Amino acid sequence: MDQKIILEKLGEKYAEQGENPETYLKGLFYSKPLSYWDYIEVETLNSLQKPRTNFKDEEIFIMYHQVTELFFKMMIHELKQIVQEDLSEKTILDKLNRLIKYTEILVNSFDVMKYGMDYDNYNQFRSSLTPASGFQSFQFRAIELYSTRIKNLLSDKNGAGAPEISEALFEDLYWKHAGKKPGISRKSQTLLQFEEKYQEDLILLARKLQGRTLEEKLLAIPDPSDALIRAAKQFDFLYNFKWPNVHLETAAHYLDSKGENKAATGGSEWKKYLNPVFQQRRFFPAFWQNDSMENW
Ligand code: HEM
Repeated sequence: MDQKIILEKLGEKYAEQGENPETYLKGLFYSKPLSYWDYIEVETLNSLQKPRTNFKDEEIFIMYHQVTELFFKMMIHELKQIVQEDLSEKTILDKLNRLIKYTEILVNSFDVMKYGMDYDNYNQFRSSLTPASGFQSFQFRAIELYSTRIKNLLSDKNGAGAPEISEALFEDLYWKHAGKKPGISRKSQTLLQFEEKYQEDLILLARKLQGRTLEEKLLAIPDPSDALIRAAKQFDFLYNFKWPNVHLETAAHYLDSKGENKAATGGSEWKKYLNPVFQQRRFFPAFWQNDSMENW
């Protein structure tokens, strides 16, 4: 585009906003050229690793969790658009494919945790992290709420209808029991801490999403294409089976490979709780009706 037209178009843009274009254009005389490090905030990013011990591999543990949280943020970025906007089937499919890609990256990179840390290093520094646990990831829980109706996240998934979202209903979410029998065991510090920090936000989010979760958006499409159903099932499989499975294998590697069955920092019955076959979580159960639910 020639310079004159660019200036005219900029003039039109600011005029439409009721602003004086000259003021904005004058600002260009003084603004500093952008640099990669300022734009990407590399120094801030690299200042966020604060190990609690002197074990070298603890920094790897922190960084990989941070990378995962950033991927969770990328996923929420897509999910927010799906639930807030009135998107076409084609755009929803594009977004599902992004969700698939990000989850695949998380599944395929989990080896950083299994083979990228020294076994003894990890088992020593992890004791200084109690009661913190990935269990307390707000974004992991938010992805679930964006993706599916709350009834699919209850420990008893057989309830009918659309239950009202309340504190009491939240007590029946699968993660509230962390593999233990409901009502029998006392709440762990890990859970109490998490509830104090995030329960209110999670309940508000769940209420806001009622009727517009990804699952409900998909169910509202009158004659969904095979590609859309396949993509939804693929995302479900990756998020609710593949990722939990690599995560469980890694937990078993550090906590149980020498037959010691160590306690987890979050105090869960982790062998059962982290096992996707035990949990049988699905974001889109209607799409699995013709498959055996026991397949994973
Ligand atoms: C050596 C690596 C890891 C081990 C041994 C491990 C172990 C565990 C265990 C035992 C639990 C059950 C809760 C508890 O009692 O603490 C748990 C939960 C969890 N962890 Fe990890 N974890 C590891 C890495 C990660 C990473 C990198 C993430 C990424 C954010 C993560 C996210 C989670 C989440 C989201 C839960 C809750 C899962 C659910 O509710 O189904 N973990 N982890």
